[in-house]
Parts: sequence; C-alpha cells; structure tokens
Amino acid sequence: MKSLFDQTQLAGMTLKNRFIRSATHDGFADEKGHMTEELFQIYENLAKGGVGAIITGLTYVSDLEEPYPGQMGIYDDSFIEEYKRLTEMSHRYNAKIILQIVSLGSQTSPSTSGKVMWGPSAVTDLGFKTTPQEMTAQDIILVQQAFAEAALRAKKAGFDGVQLHVAHGYLLSKFLTPYYNRRSDEYGGNIENRTRMVRETYQAIRDKVGPDYPVLIKINCDDFMEQGLTFADCKYVCHKLAELGVNAIEVSGGISSSRPGEGTIRTITAEQGSYFRTYAAEIAGEINVPVILVGGNRDFAALMEILKQTTIEYFSFCRPLIRESDLIKRWQSGDLGRSKCVSCTKCFRLDGTRCIFNQK
Ligand SMILES: Cc1cc2nc3c(=O)[nH]c(=O)nc-3n(C[C@H](O)[C@H](O)[C@H](O)COP(=O)(O)O)c2cc1C
Repeated sequence: MKSLFDQTQLAGMTLKNRFIRSATHDGFADEKGHMTEELFQIYENLAKGGVGAIITGLTYVSDLEEPYPGQMGIYDDSFIEEYKRLTEMSHRYNAKIILQIVSLGSQTSPSTSGKVMWGPSAVTDLGFKTTPQEMTAQDIILVQQAFAEAALRAKKAGFDGVQLHVAHGYLLSKFLTPYYNRRSDEYGGNIENRTRMVRETYQAIRDKVGPDYPVLIKINCDDFMEQGLTFADCKYVCHKLAELGVNAIEVSGGISSSRPGEGTIRTITAEQGSYFRTYAAEIAGEINVPVILVGGNRDFAALMEILKQTTIEYFSFCRPLIRESDLIKRWQSGDLGRSKCVSCTKCFRLDGTRCIFNQK
C-alpha cells in the first residue's frame, strides 16, 4: 500500500517522502534579487523540517522587468555561486530543491525606472490595474531565451530541477487566458495557439538543459473568471506538455481577478481542505506524468485518503510551512495532528512572509 512517507523517484530525483514545499515568495532577497542570510535561514529551516523537496519562491529570469520587492533573481551568472551554497545546504538535509522561474508580466508595480511590463495583449490586469505592452515576436523570443538561460544557470547551481510558473496570472498563464490574450497571430485565438508560448518556452528550456533534467510546471486548473482558462483548456495544455516530456504537473488555480471563493488563496479557508483535489485527480488519471496537489493540504489522514483513492503522487504545502516549518518532521514522529495553519491568508503579502501566530 502506498504511504505518504514512501521514497519515490521523480524524474530521476530520489524523494524521501511525498511532501513538497510549494513555491513561496518570501520577500527576503536583496534589491537585486540576491540571497540574504535571512532568506538562507528560511530555506535551512525548511530543509531541516522534513520535506522531500523544496520549490523556491518565484524567481525572475529577466531584469528587464520590475521584480517584486525582495524577489529572488536568476537573470545572470552572478547568481550561480550563491545558489550553490543554497542547494548544497538543502542536500545536506536530504531535501531536493527546485527553482521556480517566472516572468511576472503585468502582475507587478509599474516601474519607476523604465522597465518593461510584458503581456500577450495590452489588456489591463483586473487585480493589479496595470496595463502591459503587447509583446512583439522579438519580445517573445527574448523571454523564451531568458527562461532557458535561467534554467541552465539553475542546473549549474545544483538545483535538482526547475519549475516553470504557468499559474496565477503571471505572463505564461496570461497567454492561456482568453480575456488577457487577444492576439490575432499564432499565439492567440484557439487553445492550440494560446498554448504555443508555454510550449515553446518549455522546449527552449529543454533544449538548453538536456533531456534528463527535471522540468516541472505549475498550472491553473481553472482561472475561475469570465473568459478565463477552463479546466478543458488546462487538460489540453497538460497533455501537450506531457507529450513534450514535462516531468511533473503541480495543479493550482485562480488568478488575482478570480471570482471570490473559487480558487484563490485569498478567499479559500482551511475548512475546504484540499480544494483542487478533484481537478488534480482527473489530470492524474488521464495523463501519465506525476501530479502534485497544492492548496489546502492540512490533514494527514485526508491526504492518505487522496493517495489511496487517486493517482495523485505528491502533496505540496505553502502556508502550513510558513506557520510550522517542521510540520513533516512532526508527522513523521507520529504526532499526526493537523497543520496549525488556519489559512487566515495574512501571510499573503508581497513584502515578506510571516505567520501572525508565530511571528518572530
Ligand atoms: C506568502 C505566499 C507566497 C506565495 N508565493 C508563491 C510563489 O512564489 N509561487 C507560486 O507558484 N505560488 C506562490 N504562492 C501560492 C502557494 O504556492 C500555494 O499555491 C497556495 O498558497 C496554496 O497552498 P497552501 O494552502 O498550502 O498555502 C504563495 C502563497 C503565499 C501565501
């Protein structure tokens, strides 16, 4: 029988259990995206805390766009040495570490220093109220190359893989969303065209890092908004990426303009449990790529049930590990009490991550 503490192989990576820290932007990098001691400490606590793998916070691949305050970067080779220290530390605790790479698109503040804001089309972001410039064919190539170079740097720095952020309304996610993608060229229109940016970006990464390096994606099962990405669209994208060799799919959902109560972490409460379970289970049943379920995972027994009843292989956590970085160690010791996170959402700030209950 399967167990949450099974040792498994994910694209050649040996994971000591099925628990993963989902990407979490902490806001503790310096103003150029470099590591700080505080950030290093957060990762060391996570690595000690028992997860099989850590996915880093969203890390920007090009400094042509305005990052979030304190966002991690990987836009040039100067990052390789400091990230080696991070990956070596993580490996000392037998925790794999995966770099999440992103282009923010219009989900950032307007730049005061002449940086660009890219979008599939010049459509104002309903949440951030920012309007990007429509990307030209040259911009598209530039961004795809930036992703590919970032992934190669990640490999050189010792990360066990990269995760392409295709969820939550960031640039790649926006290409999939009809409301934000109004293009009339081969990158817009039907789902085949709207998937092209993600497919080509994935392929550019794959060409750089080689066939064996783990490349994961995080994707919305649904945008939960009018003219948003639908679940049928999501499955289409997952099938296409599976054909291209993607190594794992983390199923999330929602966007800053989602309908209240559906999908976004701002409105989902602890009582709702693993709220993308049905979507992730259907994807896992249809597609022969390991699926990671994120969102609302709090209760050990409930996760065991999902593991038994579905073909979902992995479970990832964000807020529970902000509240309690050693949750997995606690569960492993036999104390199976549910996560202390009450999903109050107060940790969701762009200027640093602290749980109000155990603020240090
Ligand atoms: C403070 C905070 C920062 C986050 N940063 C990221 C991020 O960098 N990349 C990402 O894909 N998701 C990010 N998320 C979303 C989480 O990875 C996760 O999908 C979501 O919080 C639901 O999982 P949970 O119920 O375990 O918190 C963030 C969430 C929070 C609360």
